[in-house]
Amino acid sequence: MVLPWSGEVVHQAPGPASLLRDLDAELRLHQFDADSTARFMGAADDTDLLSNSAMYALAARDRTGEFTDTGAGALAELFLRNGEVSLGIYERRLTYTIRSLLQTLDLVYEVGGSVRARASISPLGTSYYLSDRIFACLPESDGYPVVVSRGAEGDFGPVMPPHASTLCLLEHTTARGGRLLDVGTGCGVLALARARGYRSVRGIDIDPRAVAYAKANALLAGCEAAFDVSDFRACRQDFGPADHLLFNAPSRNDDSAVSQGVSRLHTAGLIEELIEHLPRALAAPGGLAEVLVIIPVPERAEGARDVVGQWTGGHAPVVVDVREVEDPALTITAEAIERLRIRPGCALADSREERAALARALKSSRTRRVAPAVLSIRARPAA
Ligand SMILES: C[S@@+](CC[C@H](N)C(=O)[O-])C[C@H]1O[C@@H](n2cnc3c(N)ncnc32)[C@H](O)[C@@H]1O
Repeated sequence: MVLPWSGEVVHQAPGPASLLRDLDAELRLHQFDADSTARFMGAADDTDLLSNSAMYALAARDRTGEFTDTGAGALAELFLRNGEVSLGIYERRLTYTIRSLLQTLDLVYEVGGSVRARASISPLGTSYYLSDRIFACLPESDGYPVVVSRGAEGDFGPVMPPHASTLCLLEHTTARGGRLLDVGTGCGVLALARARGYRSVRGIDIDPRAVAYAKANALLAGCEAAFDVSDFRACRQDFGPADHLLFNAPSRNDDSAVSQGVSRLHTAGLIEELIEHLPRALAAPGGLAEVLVIIPVPERAEGARDVVGQWTGGHAPVVVDVREVEDPALTITAEAIERLRIRPGCALADSREERAALARALKSSRTRRVAPAVLSIRARPAA
């Protein structure tokens, strides 16, 4: 297996599976766990931390000296704040074993007497998730989180760590048993976090780097799950019919949506594609797809249910429900739009400029509020 950040690891002995299992054990030994990392970063818990990671990284900016008193803190500085640790502290706080593992897996590198990480490691629940970094807090940015540029790592942009929308979909769906298909799996988090509740687990993603991360995370967790490169628009029952499909729908990457700050809002076009393609992957009858979408609700509509109803002509037989959910990081209130003030914890924009552009775009398009919603899509009834 080739880790996305290094083709070399595959040639090492022992192989990546055993290295990743050892890394899991060493991270635990250093008490780099969900509770201690939330504590270091000043968050209420792991979900609060991962929903607002850049904000907590910024808030911890003046406390990083405290982090380096322990191994867990040094790991948090490297893999959650995406900052750097001096070589002396790195060698004092971390065991030889974990340092060798991090080096062999190519997860760290040295620059000017300090150590930096190439990837993020997010503790969530009792597991760890490797992913790309979406921001970095380095001396050259004066310790402020700066967004790691889109597209820097590959054709599809960074492979996201577990973040606000991941946690929202996890919170608002429950395990249903049978065969799980995680579409747009990213680093594999939905598939792996839910794996225990299912007979079989598979994740697909259009991005080969995401699939490589997901495979690495399955090894890290010692979890049986299959991951494949595939486009949901070609989604049939190639991998066997799914009883439950989860999809945290992707951002749009067209230039105009990005420049207007609206890339994370979903459109009628995506909903049409979901309705057309997802039912083909489901077991019939009984298969259910649940998709997290972010819906801009215009002034003339009541809520996300109305909007999706209008987009689908109100009679798409396969959409059974549109359930609006509350999420502080994904909801934008009418008041925020009216006052052109989207708060920094909003996960739909990465910077002050993006928040300002998004607020302007929402106001000028007469959007009343932005609502996250879980769409439930059923297998198409037999003709
Ligand atoms: C919002 S991320 C969700 C990642 C992960 N499931 C999570 O919840 O954190 C959306 C993912 O969908 C993937 N994606 C985008 N277009 C896709 C397509 N046409 N088919 C399959 N996956 C796609 C992206 O590469 C990305 O990993």
